[in-house]
Amino acid sequence: MDSYLKGISILGSTGSVGTQTLDVIETHSEKFQIIGLSANKNHSELLSQIRKYSPKYVSYSGISNQLETICKDNQVNRKNFSEISESHETDLLVVATTGSIALEPTFKAISLGKDIAVANKEIIIMAGEKLISHAHSNNVELMPLDSEPSAIWQCLVGENHLSINKIIITASGGSFRDIPIEKLPNVTAQESLNHPTWKMGAKITVDSATMMNKAFEVIEAKWLFGIDWDSIEVILHPESLIHSLVEFSDGSTKAQISPPDMRLPIQYALLHPQRIQNHNLKRFDPTKFKNITFEEIDKTRYPCFDMALSYAKKGGTWPSALCGADEGAVDAFLSGKIKFVEISELIEQSISSHKNIELPDIKDLIESYEWGQKQVEKSL
Ligand SMILES: NC(=O)c1ccc[n+]([C@@H]2O[C@H](COP(=O)([O-])OP(=O)(O)OC[C@H]3O[C@@H](n4cnc5c(N)ncnc54)[C@H](OP(=O)(O)O)[C@@H]3O)[C@@H](O)[C@H]2O)c1
Repeated sequence: MDSYLKGISILGSTGSVGTQTLDVIETHSEKFQIIGLSANKNHSELLSQIRKYSPKYVSYSGISNQLETICKDNQVNRKNFSEISESHETDLLVVATTGSIALEPTFKAISLGKDIAVANKEIIIMAGEKLISHAHSNNVELMPLDSEPSAIWQCLVGENHLSINKIIITASGGSFRDIPIEKLPNVTAQESLNHPTWKMGAKITVDSATMMNKAFEVIEAKWLFGIDWDSIEVILHPESLIHSLVEFSDGSTKAQISPPDMRLPIQYALLHPQRIQNHNLKRFDPTKFKNITFEEIDKTRYPCFDMALSYAKKGGTWPSALCGADEGAVDAFLSGKIKFVEISELIEQSISSHKNIELPDIKDLIESYEWGQKQVEKSL
């Protein structure tokens, strides 16, 4: 048994990634100590997490008598959201929120020398270059939790960066992959949440159906691994077994394969560089998979993909405006205000008038995100 327990705080502990992170921590409880947990409005989930994991600090929105009482009885301190990432007992911060709320706390945690495991892709899209250089200058590890960038990270261990020829990111195709294109105008919000291979939060599940999520992963790969745009490809892989591939200059290609389960990339980051058995994770059995297939992506089915990359490549505050508009458009779709096929049009129409800031600071990035969200609301 390790004598040293790694102190972990989780921003977004009540969400899909947050709860799976706690599952991994519970499996390897001899290695970790939970320091801080944070929720937004899901008070009942936070309440059961406090009972189970006895954190030192929690943060949540609004008022809850039950939470107040349990915190008082168990000497748990309520903090502001941003303070959760700052406690001196935290060695590793897991960023598992959606949206832009965690951007400033993540920068602060890096300044304080805390390692970061990040699932929250919006903050990498908004500020990837800044986050990476800030992490480098503070000698901090910025580790991806998402399965595709984790696969790339795992393939690159022991390799020389200069020998990377290209990165191939795999895509499941999302909930409407097999629906005839002419039927897409009639699909419902409820149907969009029915992902064929992954169980995730609502926003990323819709982003997966539009392939905005895949464009986000291309952007993540560009910043996290310092790869040129032209050296990143995306391919449809419906089985979601191969999470990404890296081709090297000698023609060799490495792939990372495992059944679709976020707990594997989460564990890889939490325990890095150790690999330890986790009895809850299924293994890949080649004899059970006779057909592992790949297909070119039909871009007419996924207009968000090229549109998002064209804005991301403009740099400055464009990616933040894009992210904010996507959040607004996905909300509008989930609440029945627009159709699925209107998402990409609404985003493009909303952000076309964006006034870019070439060299933004964090405040500019957050304001541009909020601007994108508001533009969508105005366009509805
Ligand atoms: N789910 C996956 O398998 C997966 C895979 C790869 C990457 N990701 C990325 O990971 C991030 C989280 O995804 P998810 O699917 O776990 O999302 P989710 O299930 O919707 O959970 C979001 C979490 O963030 C919290 N939160 C949201 N808004 C907040 C606010 N304003 N202030 C404080 N906390 C807030 C939520 O609190 P409440 O629960 O209290 O509302 C919840 O704990 C996203 O960026 C997503 O793209 C997810």
